[in-house]
Amino acid sequence: MEKLIKSVFDPQLIKKDFPVFKRQVNGKSLIYLDNAATTQKPESVINCIDNYYRKHNSNIHRGVHTLSYESTVMYEEAHKKVADFIGAKDWKEIIFTRNATESINLLAYGWGLHRLQEGDEVLITIMEHHSNIVPWQMLRDLKGIKINVLGVDNKGNLKLDELPGLLSEKTKLVSIIHASNVLGTVNPIKQITQEAKKVGALVLIDAAQSVPHIPIDVNEIGCDFLVASGHKMMGPTGIGFIYGRQNLLEDMDPFMYGGDMIEKVTLTESTWNELPWKFEAGTPNIAGGIGLGAAVDYLENIGLQNIYNHEEELLRYALEKMSEFDWINIYGHKSDSESVGVISFNVDGVHPHDVAGMLDEQGIAVRSGHHCAQPLMHDLSMDYTARISFYVYNTKEEIDLCIETLKKVKKLFG
Ligand code: ALA
Repeated sequence: MEKLIKSVFDPQLIKKDFPVFKRQVNGKSLIYLDNAATTQKPESVINCIDNYYRKHNSNIHRGVHTLSYESTVMYEEAHKKVADFIGAKDWKEIIFTRNATESINLLAYGWGLHRLQEGDEVLITIMEHHSNIVPWQMLRDLKGIKINVLGVDNKGNLKLDELPGLLSEKTKLVSIIHASNVLGTVNPIKQITQEAKKVGALVLIDAAQSVPHIPIDVNEIGCDFLVASGHKMMGPTGIGFIYGRQNLLEDMDPFMYGGDMIEKVTLTESTWNELPWKFEAGTPNIAGGIGLGAAVDYLENIGLQNIYNHEEELLRYALEKMSEFDWINIYGHKSDSESVGVISFNVDGVHPHDVAGMLDEQGIAVRSGHHCAQPLMHDLSMDYTARISFYVYNTKEEIDLCIETLKKVKKLFG
């Protein structure tokens, strides 16, 4: 693993760790501004996966032979790295899944299906990604639970004054997004958690857009569950995780049943394995988990506070530059509240797909669409937006090039 030894944070130096930036797109150097969709992978993560398959590939918990032992140790070690990264007390509180979506489904089935009754309430916000809406709708239809929704004001912040009125002893779970993948807004999850605890509700944090960008400590937040995706934090696709309080995970039912999640099986009954394996049925994504561990190493070498500060600087710079043009409409960012490096916008008179298409011609990757957050888009009276989102390797020069291209877009289409 290459160590990043830097006294000064330098995105140009960091960029050299990412092989993808050696390539050109449409004859131009790649400018990657689609980090909220997925991040690029450093050499160390790619090498770690390559090394695993070349030297250690074997199944975990399945044999006494050397390769199986090595794979088991490496895979468990990856759980420990994730646990330390988010301040979990014990690595057994970390369950590897495919992604944040699967993590929320695991909780909806493993906890919600067995613990929620008709009339119980789950509180979400209108900012949620579809992955934190649809599983609760499934439970509403199966169990008769009620879903309450906290709205967003015209500055892009949650309407916190409405929170007490939406919480009661019927609220069994508050499931909220930490950082919006559309508006960039960072929600005050510690405060919301404290409010939720007053009525005895559990708290689930969707940290897919925050864990890669903001230092996080689950004990400081006081949440019960937290989920994220590896691919948004420089890890491979197909791996994500759940943090859950040990007593809650012990008490919960499995989500999937079969290999490795059992302690003992007879033809009539079975007992469950210890944490976290009770929730990791079948052969897991071993290489992905180990790759996620390498991503955590890389992030820790840079330092989350450095990452946050850099993105904050890019965000302020981009907002200032973009707001010089009255034909660029920016959503959210209307107050000084905390935000990650995500800007959703539209260019007057131009469809966001055309904006993204023309940026791509210049080698600039941005997302356009509904960002898997249709209720929020509807609330903003939008079907689609273009979106730029930053990470460690982005620079102010890239933002300048993006804005120069937007001017050409406006001239051509607008
Ligand atoms: N949820 C991801 C995004 O915001 C895919 O782009």
